[in-house]
Amino acid sequence: MSFPDQIEPLKQSALAELRAAADLAALEQAKGNWLGANGQLTALMKQLGSLPKEEKPAAGKAINAAKAALEAALAERRSELELKAALPKEPTDYTAPGRRRLFGKLHPLTQVTEDIVRSFRKIGFVVADGPEVEDEYHCFDALNTPADHPARDTQDTFYVHVGPASLSAGERDLPAPSPSPKLQALLLRTHTSSVQIRVMEKQPPPVRIIVPGRVYRRDNADATHNPTFHQIEGLYVDRGVTAGDLKGTVEFVFKEVLGSDVKIRFRPHYFSYTEPSYEIDFASALTRKMGKDWLEIAGCGMVHPQVFENVGYDPEIWTGWAFGFGIERIAMIRYGINDIRLFYENDVRFLRQF
Ligand code: DAH
Repeated sequence: MSFPDQIEPLKQSALAELRAAADLAALEQAKGNWLGANGQLTALMKQLGSLPKEEKPAAGKAINAAKAALEAALAERRSELELKAALPKEPTDYTAPGRRRLFGKLHPLTQVTEDIVRSFRKIGFVVADGPEVEDEYHCFDALNTPADHPARDTQDTFYVHVGPASLSAGERDLPAPSPSPKLQALLLRTHTSSVQIRVMEKQPPPVRIIVPGRVYRRDNADATHNPTFHQIEGLYVDRGVTAGDLKGTVEFVFKEVLGSDVKIRFRPHYFSYTEPSYEIDFASALTRKMGKDWLEIAGCGMVHPQVFENVGYDPEIWTGWAFGFGIERIAMIRYGINDIRLFYENDVRFLRQF
């Protein structure tokens, strides 16, 4: 067979083999068979040199055209096979049910907290924060609750460290002498009221803050108690602040959070950091549902002059009120939950209801 006559059949066989390659490995194999160093087309090209001079141009042209055709076929098959390799092995079943995405949601305590915070923000309060591991001074002494005060027993908590402190305001900023003449315990705060002191120590009046946060008591868990729970503290200090402002503010927020039919009343009470002090009861469709006319919901009062003295505010100029209430309590009333422990079990069957 003349040289040019060999080209066409060889090209056809090569094209057939390249196009039939079942996968990328087979394609590489076929490429080697024809275009590789020892490939059949390569072998034919090597014979070009021995052709008579006048046949060389035509033969060279024909063989280059064949090579170009093989390379085009190779590239085409390669992209087909690459695409195939990238496709899922299993065919798509368009009749299969869709995959449902599980949406998380905020914990009911977080929802209630955010609602309360939102209400207070509307009337100019800002959120403040303080440490959960607190010293006795901020948790009790500065709140006019000295070491021998019975309120310390009713708010017993977890003590984590006994170290130097319990010093006067000026002394507290100094490095503790060692061994300290006055030892003060660190404890898990029993209430968010400690943040009242921390904020007033840091800024001059006026003050308008709310403090949502976690608190601790040495209580045994039952349907209405848990050693860890949450409170919201409020503090308002300015010139000429009255108990009327307190009542109006609390009523506004409770109506927003617990329904517009809410009624509140103040009952005289005792807290060492307020004078006078009150407990707040509220009544609404929700309390009637629980079989009660009035439910106790918060403690509050006018900030005690001694507390102002302790933070360096002049009680002759500044007046203020404070309150504190339990977030769990509000959430339980709002959602009709009868066991506080449900909040902490993280059972999605419970949590997804809110
Ligand atoms: N700290 C009190 C408690 O944990 C609640 C409280 C009562 C906070 C009166 C106040 C207040 O700010 O004025 O039971």
